[in-house]
Amino acid sequence: MAQYDVVIIGGGPAGYNAAIRAGQLGLKAAVVEKRVTLGGTCLNVGCMPSKALLHASELYEAAAGKEFATLGIEVKPKLNLVQMMAQKAESVAALTKGVEFLFKKNKVDWVKGAGRIAGQGKVEVVGEDGAVTTLEAANIVIATGSEPSGLPGVTVDNQRILDSTGALSIPEVPKSLVVIGAGIIGLELGSVWRRLGAQVTVVEFLDRICPGMDAEVAKTFQRALTKQGMTFKLGAKVTGAKATKTKVDLTVEPVAGGEAETISADYVLLAIGRRPYTEGLGLESVGIVPDKRGFIDTDHWKTSAPGVWAIGDVTHGPMLAHKGEEEAVACIETIAGKAGHVNYGVIPSVVYTAPEVAWVGQTEEELKAAGRAYKSGKFPFTANSRAKINHETEGFVKVLADATTDEVLGVHMIGPQVGEMIGEYCVAMEFKAASEDVARTCHPHPTRSEALRQAAMGVEGWTMQA
Ligand code: FAD
Ligand code: NAI
Repeated sequence: MAQYDVVIIGGGPAGYNAAIRAGQLGLKAAVVEKRVTLGGTCLNVGCMPSKALLHASELYEAAAGKEFATLGIEVKPKLNLVQMMAQKAESVAALTKGVEFLFKKNKVDWVKGAGRIAGQGKVEVVGEDGAVTTLEAANIVIATGSEPSGLPGVTVDNQRILDSTGALSIPEVPKSLVVIGAGIIGLELGSVWRRLGAQVTVVEFLDRICPGMDAEVAKTFQRALTKQGMTFKLGAKVTGAKATKTKVDLTVEPVAGGEAETISADYVLLAIGRRPYTEGLGLESVGIVPDKRGFIDTDHWKTSAPGVWAIGDVTHGPMLAHKGEEEAVACIETIAGKAGHVNYGVIPSVVYTAPEVAWVGQTEEELKAAGRAYKSGKFPFTANSRAKINHETEGFVKVLADATTDEVLGVHMIGPQVGEMIGEYCVAMEFKAASEDVARTCHPHPTRSEALRQAAMGVEGWTMQA
């Protein structure tokens, strides 16, 4: 029987980063992964393919719409969807191979097959051929991730009624697409298909988009997407969906009550959240009982079972690749006898649309609910010289800081490339910076990042360029 210091079940961002860190620290580690490639949801059917399509479709729209023409570039682009999908698949394949390379580099074994905990310290792996291998593990790390949540009355067939995986590979540009759920997946993938020519309608249960996002930013974001041609039906619920070979009829009702209506579309994307994935994992063999929503409870990544840990989407917190990565490092460092730590207050979020949305820390609503006295500084991209010359002036940066100590408590941005810039405030917050620290830090000119500094100046009321 093969013996390991750590056996990790799941080869996504939580699992593969745990494995790499374990290898670096000299632990004998194996990853059990049942998918034919490593990288989990993120690399195979999540972050990476969606960003590949967002990048390509953004350029396509820039060329096909007014953006290139405004810059004095006249072209008539022709969409080659087959090539767009092929380049996405090529990039994904290269990335998943990259993880395989990192495993070899760090002496991590990839045990191919479905893993099941079979009592304390034991993981059984059923290979594709049905052969069972048993691994002995001093520590078992559960990193099995999540799967799309279902909705009664809406059966995903990935022909006409799609989940996110289906929506990453639609074989044609839909004339019409209805997205159920105005969350991150719905708005990113809805944007992809709208840019390529689809009429996109988003049906959302709540009376706002993107719950969890600062409300002022969410409002601006919805306005921007509406201007681009997306239609929103807020406060509405889908109660049924009938698919034929060529279309889907959806029954939609106002949440507040009232007449149901039928909306027809070529395709439907169901994106109402994700749920932890623990099917067939053998949790009962070590007495772990997931909570009502299926999450595995942990205390510093330790589950209730001795020697069993859980990280990533399968446990509480934001379902984000970089959150899983943080937990992976902290969990393995704890296993290795070091002091693992995750600062859950400084986990950034980015929506990779255009404009992008990025934030870290607390929203105004959260600060108000907590009764925390705060000051706010805001700077619009219309006043940022780089944004102006690039014709990308939509949006703003908002910095929230403690009213007494000036510590940065939250930063909320919508605008050009803000996802690339939020890291600056993550570092600032990690070092418990005051807004004045950012306001007095020299930023390069002309860059969009100057807006981040000007917003910080605004906290003390001395924004200079607006
Ligand atoms: P996963 O990535 O889900 O990996 C779990 C792995 O475990 C899977 O490969 C699965 O096959 C394997 N597994 C499960 N059970 C077993 C078993 N019993 N035996 C063997 N293997 C098993 N997050 C971001 O931060 N940024 C983004 O831009 C972003 N975009 C996204 C876009 C989409 C369309 C989707 C769906 C998600 C996106 N996410 C994004 C979320 C991100 O993908 C997840 O948060 C992340 O993948 C979670 O990592 P994980 O390692 O916990 O789980
Ligand atoms: P989400 O939680 O972001 O949004 C789901 C939306 O669906 C919410 O607005 C919710 O109110 C709504 N909803 C729930 N039930 C509904 C119903 N019955 N009818 C209509 N609307 C309903 O979930 P989403 O978009 O599926 O994404 C899942 C997770 O994947 C995200 O929470 C995020 O963690 C991750 N992700 C991250 C990305 C990024 O970081 N850029 C990109 C894509 C996904």
